[in-house]
Order: sequence, then structure tokens, then C-alpha cells
Amino acid sequence: MKIFLDTANLDELKKGAAWGVVNGVTTNPTLIAKEGNAIEEQIRKICDIVDGDISAEVVSTESAQMIVDGRKLARIHKNVVVKVPLTRDGITACSTLSKEGIRLNVTLCFSAAQAILAAKAGAYIVSPFVGRVDDIGWDGSQLIRDIVLIYSNYGIKTQVLAASLRTSLHVTDSAKAGADIGTMPFKVLDMMFNHPLTDKGVETFLKDYNKVFQAEPVGTR
Ligand code: G3P
Repeated sequence: MKIFLDTANLDELKKGAAWGVVNGVTTNPTLIAKEGNAIEEQIRKICDIVDGDISAEVVSTESAQMIVDGRKLARIHKNVVVKVPLTRDGITACSTLSKEGIRLNVTLCFSAAQAILAAKAGAYIVSPFVGRVDDIGWDGSQLIRDIVLIYSNYGIKTQVLAASLRTSLHVTDSAKAGADIGTMPFKVLDMMFNHPLTDKGVETFLKDYNKVFQAEPVGTR
């Protein structure tokens, strides 16, 4: 499963990129607004940090304007994937833009039926929201399993991007379900490192070593 960061914050992206585990980025209008720059400018900066698919979302609600905006966003950088919502207008825009060779991420997907429509419209990526499905008392991970099963039944190439991942368990459940991509806030990626036995192990190894060799750092002898 590819790991994407769900942020438009450049410092977070630089930290994630330095770890060498980030394959792409997703943004949405809320995340772009938080950073205070116009979308074109912020997406260009993100493309300079992460070499992978970078989703940039349209901010119109009508298909004709989404198509105009989508073409503009796609011209920013070759890695830009245009994000449209899973509405009738969004699906219309997806059908038109995908035929022009533009790659689309259809977002705000909350059901397997909606995911079928995204695939039919030629989406490159569909984004089901795991955490927000859990929020309404349904099973977000089951949604990922259902979409992966349906797509595999028909050899559908649209990638399943598990979004709205809030915990390490969301990430591993999505990977077990066969999601192609998991996108998460920086703090969730950071949490994935944590295990008390890793910390304890590092501490014990160093203590044992230093008992014999004092505290001389490796390479200074
Ligand atoms: O990109 C979608 C994601 O940001 C939604 O996450 O936690 O607000 O449901 P959340």
C-alpha cells in the first residue's frame, strides 16, 4: 500500500519526505485554506517537495466550472491529480476530464455504489472516507473491503485510496483490505512508528553496550 500524507503543510511534508516513506500527497480546500496561500502556489510548492501523485481539489460545484478548474489545476505540474467530489456534477467532470487524459481522484465516497460510479467515469483514484463512516456508526474498513472486492471482480484499474485515516489501526485495516493507497495526517504517520518495546529495546541495547565500552559514540575511536 502506498502511503500519502493528507496535508498541505510544507514542514510536515518535508519531515515525511525525509523519512523516505511518503509516496504522494492529498489536499482538500480545508487543508489548503489552513496554509494561507492560493491553491496554485501551494500545490507547486508541494510538488517541489514530494515526487509522487499530488491531489488538488476543485472548489466549484457545477460541472462546467469544475472542468475549467480541473484543466487549470492539471497544468500546474505533471504529478497533479485533479480531485472532484462524488456528486452528479463531479462525476460529469470526471467523465469529461478523464477522456482528455487528465487523472482524477473522486473524493467524498461513502458507499460501494458510489465507488462503482467513480470507476465508470474513468477515475484514476477513488477516495472512500474510513473515519467519517466510523463517525456515523458504520464500518469504514468494511467499505474499503467492499470496494476492493468489487473492483477486483471486474479488473477495474481505479485505485482505492483509503482516506480519513485517524489511527494506526485504520492504516493496517486498510492495508489488510487491499487498499492501493492510504492517506493520513502527519500525526498518524508519526504514530505508526510508536511501540514501547522498540523504545525499551533501544534503551537496553545502548545500556549494555555502554557498560562495556563506556559512552564513546561509534566512529570516534
Ligand atoms: O482528505 C480527506 C480527509 O482529510 C478527511 O479526514 O479526519 O477530516 O475525516 P477527516
